[in-house]
Amino acid sequence: MKAFEFYAPTDHIFGEGVVDQIGERLAAAGWKKALIVYGQGSVVKSGLLDKVKGKLDAAGVAYVDLGGVRPNPEVGLVREGIEKVRAEGCDCILAVGGGSAIDCAKAIGFGVPYEGDVWDFFCGKAKITDCLPIAVVLTIPATGSEASGSCVISNDEVKAKNGAAGDIFRPKLAFLDPTLTFTLPPYQTAAGATDIISHVCERFFSGVGEVPISDLISTGIVRTVIDATPIVLEEPENYDARANIVWAGTLAHNDISGCGRSMNPAARAGGWESHALEHAISAYEPEITHGAGLAVVMPAWMRYVWREDPQRFLLFGYEVFGIEPLEEGDEGYESEEQAIEWAVEATIDELAAFFQEIGMPATLGDFGITAENLDEICDIVADAKGEEFGGFKKLNRADVKAIFESCL
Ligand code: NZQ
Ligand code: ZN
Repeated sequence: MKAFEFYAPTDHIFGEGVVDQIGERLAAAGWKKALIVYGQGSVVKSGLLDKVKGKLDAAGVAYVDLGGVRPNPEVGLVREGIEKVRAEGCDCILAVGGGSAIDCAKAIGFGVPYEGDVWDFFCGKAKITDCLPIAVVLTIPATGSEASGSCVISNDEVKAKNGAAGDIFRPKLAFLDPTLTFTLPPYQTAAGATDIISHVCERFFSGVGEVPISDLISTGIVRTVIDATPIVLEEPENYDARANIVWAGTLAHNDISGCGRSMNPAARAGGWESHALEHAISAYEPEITHGAGLAVVMPAWMRYVWREDPQRFLLFGYEVFGIEPLEEGDEGYESEEQAIEWAVEATIDELAAFFQEIGMPATLGDFGITAENLDEICDIVADAKGEEFGGFKKLNRADVKAIFESCL
């Protein structure tokens, strides 16, 4: 078990009706004026935005709005938000929505105290040292951004989608009411489930061997999501199933499942290979939903790299799907090597089949991406990650291209 630092400063306020507390909680934190950041209309339609505003009014917390954040949020709106906070004198940012609204809120939060352009933080030109406090009302379990130390922003002008990391912008308050997720469309529900699983897998397959406590937390989260997602697709208002997915989403990305698995105690565990591949796809085509992109590239990445450490995949397959390799004497057993290969391939097949069962795409072709587009997408990966990246297995440009080709 490697040395680690686990920092979880978020106050998680979980359960039906917790949004009722939002005014008093913000006031108690001493915040006087919020910038409310939200997406393209779901929170208006559901009445959640009005409800939040009513609670802030009642508690004497002032606010101004910034709506219209698109999925795969763009830096242009972040810049607009920074100007608005400065002009209006807001002292906190309140995201009401999913990862896109939350990440936009975070970037505004650390962009305000910085004199240069906020994109500097996403291209290695500046380090984040200060941030306004962030609060979140979560409407989709997926990214874990409600408690994570990461923020992902797209820049359409330079065709990039890059992340920034830092504990300083982890949200201070996260309101997690599973009933707010009842209105999620099936595709977003499934994409969120896929993202949650991938956040666990990126850490599980970090290149460090067994850490039983973290391994079982990880596989427990994945099993929970695999069990609960088909239920909520059938019954969107099943509170317990929704609630388990919401909490799984938070735990999958607040770093608890990666403790002891990072080579660098100060850094998150894992090489984040599937995320690097997916971020390039959704930078190339911002219409692509993050979780849907992951459903395509993650199994492909797994098939490409598993031979680096088959034992990790055998453990994952056993704990998540109950798959065990054949043993000598079993019918069909030929050799240990073949038994391991079958078990690992069966594990990856099961995971890919699950993604398809819940309605996720299987190929890049499903997004309209063809072989002709791959060089440009590989360029985006290289711009973000350099010539070589990855933890479980180092990937260079040829590897990246081969993985993408296997997804066509
Ligand atoms: O925009 P609105 O109208 O609100 O609709 C959204 C959007 O169309 C809709 N939605 C959300 N909650 C809903 C709802 N519709 C009905 N009822 C509800 N309760 O769902 C769509 C997707 O929302 P979005 O916020 O984009 O989803 P998600 O939470 O998956 O966020 C994706 C973004 O986060 C980044 C992704 O790359 C992507 O840009 N990520 C952020 C991470 C982080 N900060 O820690 C980690 C992740 O790996 C990820 O990269
Ligand atoms: Zn993700």
